[in-house]
Amino acid sequence: MAAFKELVFSGVQPTGNLHLGNYLGAIKRFVEMQERAECLYCVVDLHAITLWQNPAELRTQIREVTAAFIAAGIDPRRSIVFNQSQVPQHAELAWIFNCVARLGWLNRMTQFKDKAGKDRENASVGLYDYPVLMAADILAYRATHVPVGEDQKQHLELTRDIAQKFNNDFAESILAHGHGEGFFPVTEPLIGGPAARVMSLRDGTKKMSKSDPSDYSRINLTDDADAIAQKVRKAKTDPEPLPSEAAGLAGRAEADNLVGIFAALQGSTREAVLAEYGGAQFSAFKGALVELAVESLAPLSAEMKQLVADPAHIDAILADGAERAEAIAAPTLDAVKDIVGFVRRGPTLRAV
Ligand code: TYM
Repeated sequence: MAAFKELVFSGVQPTGNLHLGNYLGAIKRFVEMQERAECLYCVVDLHAITLWQNPAELRTQIREVTAAFIAAGIDPRRSIVFNQSQVPQHAELAWIFNCVARLGWLNRMTQFKDKAGKDRENASVGLYDYPVLMAADILAYRATHVPVGEDQKQHLELTRDIAQKFNNDFAESILAHGHGEGFFPVTEPLIGGPAARVMSLRDGTKKMSKSDPSDYSRINLTDDADAIAQKVRKAKTDPEPLPSEAAGLAGRAEADNLVGIFAALQGSTREAVLAEYGGAQFSAFKGALVELAVESLAPLSAEMKQLVADPAHIDAILADGAERAEAIAAPTLDAVKDIVGFVRRGPTLRAV
């Protein structure tokens, strides 16, 4: 396999309020990755419309997610921040990957089964094809690393399968076009930290999610201090005090979740949190958690508010990002077309 330059890609859907799971499992880690490599962070609006979106709200939410990226500390001069629909190579590569991916692979995707529910026949074709578009997002840049939460693991395995199958199916042509062995990298998922899977505050067995009907199940990035305090105080717990070691969290999903959230907000580990709070009652621990969450999220939501008040500025950031993203993706697509055997556009009749 050829050596690939380290490049980070990740995406967030502009569908509804961003919550603490999105922040701790993904966006906070995106910020950290900027120290390590060139990064692209994408607002995935093409993915959003796999479920119907109100057009005016979609436009607002694209800008809101962009604002959240910037407010969290992503520097749009250093990293490339853009929305997917402005870079046509995503959809174009997705079509080619539709012809590489197998039905059997997509049939195994659990997120489709969850989202389509019982009324599968009525789900959009886009919802079914969603993971193929995700592979195209990543591989249009030949990204080597993808920071995501635990729920995206299966989709990233599919991305790896598509890259490998493309490399095998076109091995001869890839070599003939001078790309060495393997045109696409086999991307590494970066899933980790204490908040890879933040759970609902109402039920420690369910993921914290935008689509949960109860707003008390999640902390939104736009919640004010009072809302955060209320939600944490009402969060489900058990009657035991906190254990002194992480092993003591086994079988205590709600306690495990709150300790994980605390650790991720603090940038530490469950062990470090329990070294301090082991033996404490939940009432005391929740007080400390409210303080930490408000301290971390208040500046973020204030900055988000300021940024969304100036949509022209956000749109300029997105335009700049799209231009820089396309400058990387366009040559990749040209090379893919050559490898697959398409005839690319040359000079017109008038010129020859
Ligand atoms: P999305 O928009 O559902 O979520 C954005 C990011 O937040 C993470 N996340 C969580 N992490 C921890 N705990 C939770 N409860 C939680 N809920 C969400 C997600 O894992 C994700 O990292 N398919 C993707 C978007 C996407 C993408 C990509 C990601 C499209 N193309 C290419 C990476 C690379 C999605 O729907 O994420």
